[in-house]
Amino acid sequence: MCGIVGYIGTNNARDIIIHGLERLEYRGYDSAGLAILNKDNLFDIYKDVGRVSVLSKSTNKILSNIGIGHTRWATHGKVTTLNAHPHKSPSGRFMIVHNGVIENFSQLKEQYLKGHTFLSETDTEVIAHLIEGFATYMEVENAILTTLKLLHGSYALLILDTQNPDKLYAAKDKPPLLVGKNTQGFTISSDVLALAGYATEYHVIEDKTFVVTTKNGIKFYNYDHEELDIKFKPLNIDVAAAEKGNYDHFMLKEINEQPGVIRNIISKYFNNYEINLNPSLIKSINNSSRIYILAAGTSMHAGLVGKRLLEQLTNKPVEVHIASEFAYYRPILDTNPFFILISQSGETADLRACLTYLRSNKYKTLTITNVITSTLAREADYALEIYAGPEIAVASTKAYIAQISVLAILAYELSAKDFDLKLELSKVAQAIENFLADTENLQALVSKYFKKEHAFYIGRGIDYATALEAALKLKEISYIHTEGFAAGELKHGTIALIEDGTPVIALISDETINLNTRSNLHEVKSRGAIPIIVTLESLKQKGDDIILDDVHPLLTPLVMVVPTQLISYYAALNLGFDIDKPRNLAKSVTVE
Ligand code: F6R
Repeated sequence: MCGIVGYIGTNNARDIIIHGLERLEYRGYDSAGLAILNKDNLFDIYKDVGRVSVLSKSTNKILSNIGIGHTRWATHGKVTTLNAHPHKSPSGRFMIVHNGVIENFSQLKEQYLKGHTFLSETDTEVIAHLIEGFATYMEVENAILTTLKLLHGSYALLILDTQNPDKLYAAKDKPPLLVGKNTQGFTISSDVLALAGYATEYHVIEDKTFVVTTKNGIKFYNYDHEELDIKFKPLNIDVAAAEKGNYDHFMLKEINEQPGVIRNIISKYFNNYEINLNPSLIKSINNSSRIYILAAGTSMHAGLVGKRLLEQLTNKPVEVHIASEFAYYRPILDTNPFFILISQSGETADLRACLTYLRSNKYKTLTITNVITSTLAREADYALEIYAGPEIAVASTKAYIAQISVLAILAYELSAKDFDLKLELSKVAQAIENFLADTENLQALVSKYFKKEHAFYIGRGIDYATALEAALKLKEISYIHTEGFAAGELKHGTIALIEDGTPVIALISDETINLNTRSNLHEVKSRGAIPIIVTLESLKQKGDDIILDDVHPLLTPLVMVVPTQLISYYAALNLGFDIDKPRNLAKSVTVE
């Protein structure tokens, strides 16, 4: 996790780096820091625990043309100023910011750095010490390359050298790193968002590439110090899409963007009534005997919905696996498997571990992602973009419904196409829009009941998948401990946790289970729970709390999830928590 930005050129490095770090804060926000060249040709370090806004205030008068910055999600070492990046080499010659984890840092200390004193508990400081050690008897670029070859794990690095203050060095293996350029200089960062406004062209740096940048030019090398031929692409990014606009929080903005996202997906994937999908992808899935969906968190929940869509529309068996489990504990695979990896960011390390295994075994893979330039998109055989636009709030909302919509289009293209999916998706967009137009009743409900320590979502069938997603969303931003349960399973033990006032929200979108789930809700009501029902117009009964327009039975998860997103939002708002940046989390999880 963590976000890094470096700049070299004729503009003010401090402003570009701070602005970039603000856009990268979704990657972690435990502490932030900056190393920047001063008038005496030396690098000053500014760092502190807390947000980039703290760093912005303490550095607002600085003018410089070269610097590096970091926003941290702690992996090795507590959240302290000493552990904040940048880190220095022993004499202060080298300054480093790092995104990733150096797995062999203890062995490296033991083998090469005996007797060294370290100021921090981080794995990063070891890199600075190693480079300085090698630079005492070799030229600096070779010292960096020698160090890089010793590192095991993952890293995106930016390095400054006080003896070469007109150069910015970078290298990466696994976490993302991109270079942007315009006529004034070069910006290197973890995400294209930090380049917006500062680059007209960009390049996504490949693994095991070493980069040397001056204000006039940039060179890319492999780890044998051979120069690589690199092509930049034009950068077109909508800066407004990454701003909050009139909303108080990105999460609320992103929830409200959902009807537009579905309409955008329709326009991208449907050409009148033809679907634009790579015929070779369709053939590859058709030829497979079983589909395996791999993902984490909210994307895994989208995968559960995808399983139902694919199974119902194609009759092909589908398994869904948590990426971090599949990476090391694999099930017995079918003879001809096809793998779908779902990831908003396209950078989740648990999925990368899966993909490395799948590629080495020559299995066919598809990544479904919001970031088509991401590592997982580039490394899979096929990639489908979900076109949700930048999702900034840490809690995923619009990417979830976009992932499901794209899975629906894929499943439909593989099916006999005996209904009009384009029309049905448009109805979903309209149903969400209708619901979002008036949420007063939902807000009142949340203010009244969502103050307790625990809450439950229950559902059967596909509503159970939505219950899991709804529970994750409520706990991650409101810190109310919430479980998503198969409605019939609660009574087999967990019902013991129900006490007076515990909110239990039943999700009911299917007629066949309507009455069973209602019975389960009666069971918890008799034990003091506050029962809340979210259902569809055609299934509603007197007294039901939240009613949504009917949509095609396969697409109900797309509408059912929306009130649960808003329940989380208003619960966190009422409790006064930081909605877009919940504690302990980061959006892009680039460590295993
Ligand atoms: C929760 C959330 C996470 C992500 C998970 C996977 O709101 O956003 O659970 O879904 O970390 O991330 P991606 O989809 O980027 O692979």
